[in-house]
Amino acid sequence: MSTLFLHGIGLLVTNDQHTSGARADDPLGAVEDAALIARDGQVVWAGRQADAAPQVARLLQGDVERVDAGGRAVIPGFVDSHTHLAFAGDRSAEFVARMAGERYAAGGIRSTVAATRAASDEQLRATLQHFERELASQGTTSFEVKTGYGLDVDNEERLARLAREVTDEVTFLGAHVVPSEYADDRSGYVDLVTGPMLHACAPHARWIDVFCDEGAFTAEEAERILTAGRDRGLGVRIHAGQLGEGEGVRVAVGLDAASVDHATYLSADDVAALAASNTVCTLLPGVEFSTRHPYPDARALLSAGVTIALASDCNPGSCFTSSMPFVIALAVRELGMTPDEALWAATAGGARALRRDDVGRLSPGASADLVLLDAPSHVYLAYRPGVPLVRRVWKHGVELRVD
Ligand code: NIG
Ligand code: FE
Repeated sequence: MSTLFLHGIGLLVTNDQHTSGARADDPLGAVEDAALIARDGQVVWAGRQADAAPQVARLLQGDVERVDAGGRAVIPGFVDSHTHLAFAGDRSAEFVARMAGERYAAGGIRSTVAATRAASDEQLRATLQHFERELASQGTTSFEVKTGYGLDVDNEERLARLAREVTDEVTFLGAHVVPSEYADDRSGYVDLVTGPMLHACAPHARWIDVFCDEGAFTAEEAERILTAGRDRGLGVRIHAGQLGEGEGVRVAVGLDAASVDHATYLSADDVAALAASNTVCTLLPGVEFSTRHPYPDARALLSAGVTIALASDCNPGSCFTSSMPFVIALAVRELGMTPDEALWAATAGGARALRRDDVGRLSPGASADLVLLDAPSHVYLAYRPGVPLVRRVWKHGVELRVD
């Protein structure tokens, strides 16, 4: 039985208002002068260190790893609910052209498809493992990975299978764009996605997703594809409103999607539909940063009562950052979210977007996925943008190497 005792925490963010010492109206469930005990990978106690004495005596028996946080902040590991890490190739030239004024378009995806199809399993596996370490070093302890750069049955199946080696949260995105060989037969491609491709990928996946936007799939196509995935037992998510308004949000909410992602362009009806639903709205401000698009209106979504998650969307085209601290800094600086709202959205919000209750919080029963910051509070993530503040990271109570 292994026990981790983290004490001397200047500020502990639990995302649980019931934590001893937390204010009942604070969604972050933040506690000053705190301690946390984890056993066998799960949090068993968290709260004010001064209140810990009886529990500490009982729980701190046997083999205990003691860590003095030295007054620094501890937060839940980031939950990055939207990435496209299963790919090969390089599109830095596309980024350079964009910075010189070119517009982002969905079609660039096809160049990554060609490179990904040409890559071996070993290359793709090495890339995924590299990203897993890169994410951990920045405090991300849970992450989703989409397929979508294979776009034929064998390649989509292999991306889903390889992604499953690094995460439980695999999303089948055969409907990323229509591949070149189906340029004259869109409905044939939708048949492939909803038939043999779904059949091959579903065993490795938890989710189905569609890129419903200009240059990608229509709302009618999205509805067909998502319904097929749902009928196959997959949860629903969607890329919508990245390049323009459309019917994607309506379709996704109608299918009880876990998340609508991007949401840069939303109608008032979209915002109302999200507010009245169980669907999280996942904002990806790294995309707007890397494509020079206008940022989404996070304040309008929050005022309407929509639940927001923040994610990286790490991909070789529209946004090649895997840094959740950077995303938080953008959310605060560019979306007008408070540092508290941004941290919640990058942890508990991401967990909601993946319909998970065991991550994104640090209260009893949760996985002991936590980050010790080299800072007195999470506010520093936005206050000191670009500075590596992630000092130590634990997943299931086991410390990950972050250097
Ligand atoms: O989320 N929008 C669709 N997919 C990615 C971009 C993929 C690419 O350009 O390679 C996104 O932005
Ligand atoms: Fe995406």
